[in-house]
Amino acid sequence: MASLLVTGGAGFIGANFVQYWLARHPGDQVVVLDALTYAGNAASLEPVRRHPGLVFVHGDIRTPGLAESLLRSHAVDLLVHFAAESHVDRSIAAPDAFLETNVTGTHMLLKAARATGLPRFHHVSTDEVYGSLGPDDPPFTETTRFAPNSPYAASKAAADHLVRAYHHTYGLPVTVTNCSNNYGPYHFPEKLIPLMLVNALDGKPLPVYGDGGNVRDWLYVEDHCRAIERVLEAGRPGETYNVGGRNEWTNLAIVRLLSGLVDEQFAADASLASRFPNAPPAHGRETLSLLTFVTDRPGHDRRYAIDDRKIEAELGFVPAESFETGIRRTVAWYLANEPWWRAVMSGAYRRWMEEWYGT
Ligand code: NAD
Ligand code: TYD
Repeated sequence: MASLLVTGGAGFIGANFVQYWLARHPGDQVVVLDALTYAGNAASLEPVRRHPGLVFVHGDIRTPGLAESLLRSHAVDLLVHFAAESHVDRSIAAPDAFLETNVTGTHMLLKAARATGLPRFHHVSTDEVYGSLGPDDPPFTETTRFAPNSPYAASKAAADHLVRAYHHTYGLPVTVTNCSNNYGPYHFPEKLIPLMLVNALDGKPLPVYGDGGNVRDWLYVEDHCRAIERVLEAGRPGETYNVGGRNEWTNLAIVRLLSGLVDEQFAADASLASRFPNAPPAHGRETLSLLTFVTDRPGHDRRYAIDDRKIEAELGFVPAESFETGIRRTVAWYLANEPWWRAVMSGAYRRWMEEWYGT
């Protein structure tokens, strides 16, 4: 039986990971440490709330002594570090919190890990540390030079460097994954895919930045959880593994795809028109009629793509979910879980939407 400390376990990927882990390792203990910022939601852990292995701690990774006492009192073997400020646009509007949580917070955890002799520290990072690719550039490998372009990416790159330094200098057994864009259930609706879905259902504009030609590589969140599991099982300490979906799409193509899927769902299920009366297909119009091109994100990275040959060759990991099935599962999840997304779209969320989009 293993004991895990999962930071940020009430966020999008963290909550999926905790659910995935407890389903696959029911005898393990999973201690979630999450500050429940605007992006964290205890409701995302509802399916495992009564699981005997789950311990939820409402706290901040920056609180002195907290992580160390949890590592000791729960005899933690594996720390999986998801907690972060994660939204590029927010990092452009207000970068300070990104340095505080992503850099200082990560350092607090590294110090606690070192002080307690933690057997494994797994750091969850992003492909955005590598910067932006041109249309014909080869994808990012683990040795691509860091060139972060947003305050978010820079703060994650700084954290990655600290994790590396704690391994090199103090021998802390660390592993790192740099993953591409995730999508799936429990995704906070200020990121592209869930934002487009909830706006479509409420009949609000679908705001595409610039010309919509920016490219992202999309991975179903459960595949990311599997990749982390493989790294925890068999990854070599001190190593970094890139994780991607082998699935590059322009933003405009994603919005077109989602719009078509929403229309399809309304055509198949008459009850959706009464549940979502403001959605265009409730009135015989196409969801794509909501498409709106808006001012581009400052410093907007054009393209991300991942070379995942290392994790495949060393650990046998390849993504399992096809985009066609994963995106359908995601649309179905948002249609079935309206109470979840309505609950998170209040207070701080509304203020953000007003400030950033002027709506
Ligand atoms: P998220 O914003 O949905 O969740 C972050 C979680 O961290 C929230 O539950 C929040 O409450 C918690 N948190 C924030 N600050 C905290 C603090 N100071 N102390 C404790 N908890 C705090 O983010 P996500 O999309 O789930 O991303 C999780 C991790 O994966 C991040 O490190 C991110 O950089 C990385 N990542 C994300 C993606 C993606 O596509 N979403 C891709 C690659 C890597
Ligand atoms: P996002 O989900 O914020 O992820 P990231 O910036 O970390 O890749 O954005 C994904 C892409 O979608 C990115 O190119 C920016 C674009 N985008 C829009 O066009 N409109 C939006 O309202 C948002 C939130 C993102």
